[in-house]
Amino acid sequence: MRAIMSYNSYEDLTVEKKNGYLLLKLNRPDVLNALSFQLVSHIAEAMKEADADDDVKSVVITGNGRAFSAGADIRDMENRSFISFEHRDDFSVWDDMLEVRKPVIAAVEGYALGGGCELAMSADILVAAEGTKFGQPEINLAIIPGAGGTQRLSRAIGRHRAMRYILTGELFTAAEAFSMGLVSSLVPPGQALTEAIRIAEKIAEKSLISVLLAKEAVNFSQESTLTQGLKFERQLFYSLFSTADRKEGMEAFLHKRKPSFSDS
Ligand code: CAA
Repeated sequence: MRAIMSYNSYEDLTVEKKNGYLLLKLNRPDVLNALSFQLVSHIAEAMKEADADDDVKSVVITGNGRAFSAGADIRDMENRSFISFEHRDDFSVWDDMLEVRKPVIAAVEGYALGGGCELAMSADILVAAEGTKFGQPEINLAIIPGAGGTQRLSRAIGRHRAMRYILTGELFTAAEAFSMGLVSSLVPPGQALTEAIRIAEKIAEKSLISVLLAKEAVNFSQESTLTQGLKFERQLFYSLFSTADRKEGMEAFLHKRKPSFSDS
C-alpha cells in the first residue's frame, strides 16, 4: 500500500485529501478560474498524485467563485504564435489527464466555457447546477477549441448540435446540457459540489480494482467497435475473479452483510 500524506500545494489550485477522494478547487476567482498553462499542469500533476495514492479512489474537481472556469487564460495566449505553440506543444499537458485511471468527477457551477467546458467534459462524471452556462466560445476569438472541445462535445451531444454551438459560440444551460446527455446529474444551484462528494463517497466504498476496470471498460467503448468492446469487457470481467475483493463481495452478499474490501 502506498498512501500520500502530503500532496504538492499550489496557489492557483487547492488540493485537499478527504476520506477516500481528492478534492481539487481551481483558485483563480478574479479571472473566473481561467486556465493558465501553469494551472492546467498543476491539475494534471495533482491527478497523477491521486492515481498513486492508495487512500484515494476518485478525484473531485470544482471551481471557486462565479465560475467553474471561463476557459484557457486569454492573457497567456495573447502574444503566442503558431511556431511557439508548435515548438512547446503547451496543450499536450491535457493528455496527461487522459492517463488518470481513477474516476474524475467535475462539480460545475457558474461558467464552464472553452477550456473550462473541455475540463468538465474530460471528467468521467459531470455534475452541474441549474443556471450553469456551458459553451465553446473560441470562435469569437477567431480560434477553435484546442483541448478536446470539437471531439468531446460532438461525441457527447451529436455532431449537428456540436456544430451549432462551436460555430456560433452560443452558450447553453446546464438543463440543456443534461437533456443532451452531456451532464450526468443536474442539481439545484449551490449543490454541485455536495452531489459530486456524495458520488465520490459512494465510489470510495467500492473495491478499487473494480472501479479502475469499470472506468477502463467504459472508456474503451469510445474508441472501439461493439464487438471489440464486448470482448474487452469480458476479459476484464474474468480478470476480476482473481481478486480477494470479488470473493468478499459475493460472500458478503450471500451472508446479507456489508462487504469489507481490502483493495486486493
Ligand atoms: N482568460 C483570461 N481572463 C478571463 C477569462 C479568460 N478565459 N475569462 C474571464 N476573464 C477575466 C476577465 O478578463 C475579467 O478580468 P478583469 O476583472 O481583470 O477585467 C474577469 O475575468 C471577470 O470577467 P468579466 O468581467 O468578463 O465577467 P463577466 O461576468 O462580464 O463575463 C464571461 C463573464 C461571459 C465568462 C466572460 O468573462 C467571458 O466571455 N470570458 C471568456 C470566455 C472565453 O472566451 N473562453 C474561451 C477561452 S479560449 C479557450 O478556452 C481555448 C481552449 O480550447 C482551451
